[in-house]
Amino acid sequence: MKLIDGKATAAAIKEEIAAEVERIVARGGRRPHLAAVLVGHDGGSETYVRGKVKACGECGFRSTLIRYEDDVTEEELLGCVARLNADPEVDGFIVQLPLPPHIDEQKIIEAIDYRKDVDGFHPVNVGRMAIGLPCFISATPRGILELLRRYGVETGGKKCVVLGRSNIVGKPMAQLMMQKQYGDATVTVCHSHTRGLAEECRTADILIAAIGRPAFVGPEMVKEGAVVIDVGTTRVPDATKKSGFRLQGDVDFEAVAPRCSMITPVPGGVGPMTICMLMLNTLAAARHDCYA
Ligand code: GUN
Repeated sequence: MKLIDGKATAAAIKEEIAAEVERIVARGGRRPHLAAVLVGHDGGSETYVRGKVKACGECGFRSTLIRYEDDVTEEELLGCVARLNADPEVDGFIVQLPLPPHIDEQKIIEAIDYRKDVDGFHPVNVGRMAIGLPCFISATPRGILELLRRYGVETGGKKCVVLGRSNIVGKPMAQLMMQKQYGDATVTVCHSHTRGLAEECRTADILIAAIGRPAFVGPEMVKEGAVVIDVGTTRVPDATKKSGFRLQGDVDFEAVAPRCSMITPVPGGVGPMTICMLMLNTLAAARHDCYA
């Protein structure tokens, strides 16, 4: 069994990005600029956004964090999105999800200029991704593709099972693994209502778990020699930790790892790659790689 080290891979990619930014600056260009909008004080969201701002520093990017309290109105948030859309100094921005229930998340996403949508959540980017056109690909699936590529995992013609059907991970992951220029695999999407879930998962050469249920995937769901990618990051109580919790993946790592040819740990697997791919998308936005 080989561990797929997302932390080390992300560190290497961030160094590559930083070197590219210094080349841009040396030629008289300006540093890529990412803005992040954070609403409220959800612990997970705070941690993610802090990580994104830190990664900007490591890549030589400029970053701006815009904070609102939980009681921000939809109009105020739409106003913020409009200002960021119009700001020529901002190359790309994200609105951290989830948003409070009184705000229509989809309305906010659709208000973002798709040319600055470095999360790849806008329907224009989702649609272009689905038909293989240049676009911003959402960071988690892009990070997983990059891990598979850098670890030499063959995907062409292989059987891939994606566990989960979220807009952020499951759906785009299945699309990308299916497409000729990315995974070129045979893809099955399983979810909470799939019949014979364990048998389906056992057919996978590559199993991507993104169902959001801690330690859901046990050894009975994994074929001997499979590559297992764990997207789960649920906070579970842990009295031995200073914070009082630890991150638990969707995979029962101890039980499943011995069956795998390769597996991602949690933390240190997919998570660091997600932030890193947001940096790559921001660099692409600054260079107008996807849209003029
Ligand atoms: N919430 C969980 N993951 C993400 C992400 O990748 N982007 C944003 N904006 N919010 C998230």
